[in-house]
Amino acid sequence: MCERAIAVFDSGVGGLSVLKKLTESFPQEKFIYLGDNKNAPYGNKSKRELLSLALNNIDLILSYKVKAIIVACNTLSVNILDEIKQFAGIPVFGVFPPVEKAEISGEKTLLLATELTSSKYKSTGNFKSLGLKDLVEDIESNLYSLNTINISRHLNCVNQKFDNVILGCTHYFFVKNKIIDYLKPLRILDGADNTIEKINQELKITKHSEKILRNEPFFIGNNKKTNKCFWNLVVKNIKNL
Ligand code: DGL
Repeated sequence: MCERAIAVFDSGVGGLSVLKKLTESFPQEKFIYLGDNKNAPYGNKSKRELLSLALNNIDLILSYKVKAIIVACNTLSVNILDEIKQFAGIPVFGVFPPVEKAEISGEKTLLLATELTSSKYKSTGNFKSLGLKDLVEDIESNLYSLNTINISRHLNCVNQKFDNVILGCTHYFFVKNKIIDYLKPLRILDGADNTIEKINQELKITKHSEKILRNEPFFIGNNKKTNKCFWNLVVKNIKNL
């Protein structure tokens, strides 16, 4: 067993969806999780605010024995990953919306993301980028009643059919089925698998995919209780996230 852990960081519960995939791909590793739920959502903040929140949290992460940090947040990855990498001084991996896959196919593609992430991807031709103002907040406020979230309130401006829908925010995994039912795309894409591939190649950690959780993640930060409860009661039990 490796001594040092891999840290996973997000503005709140969204990164738990990435943590789930990470624990399934690398069951031999130890993970620690930091979700900054009190300051979520990050997606409506200025870059300056993001930087200050992120670096404070990275500082806390670095006070533990960690060998790498996964920024399981598209908003942070797209906007300030270089600054986080410089500050951390250990390997840092981001999660990005896989827009290039859709671009290559030339199919009609919709990117759903926070406003800050969406502003980095311009709508052109068959590609539409949509920033959702408060879906993250809706998810954070309804962790144990996700079924009550009215997805049409967030997506009612979408009035055409898309072949691909990209989940450009890690929180959206938790309402993925609602998004599929509402938009009925042929495919739904996200960035977590690309991140796992990169970790596999760059950290030379072998992928196992045995889908058995060997090490329970360790939760840190002011909101560790919230994240631990949501992990234990909901995320751990989701099949095929
Ligand atoms: N999970 C974050 C992301 O992937 C959500 C950002 C937010 O807190 O608005 O973008």
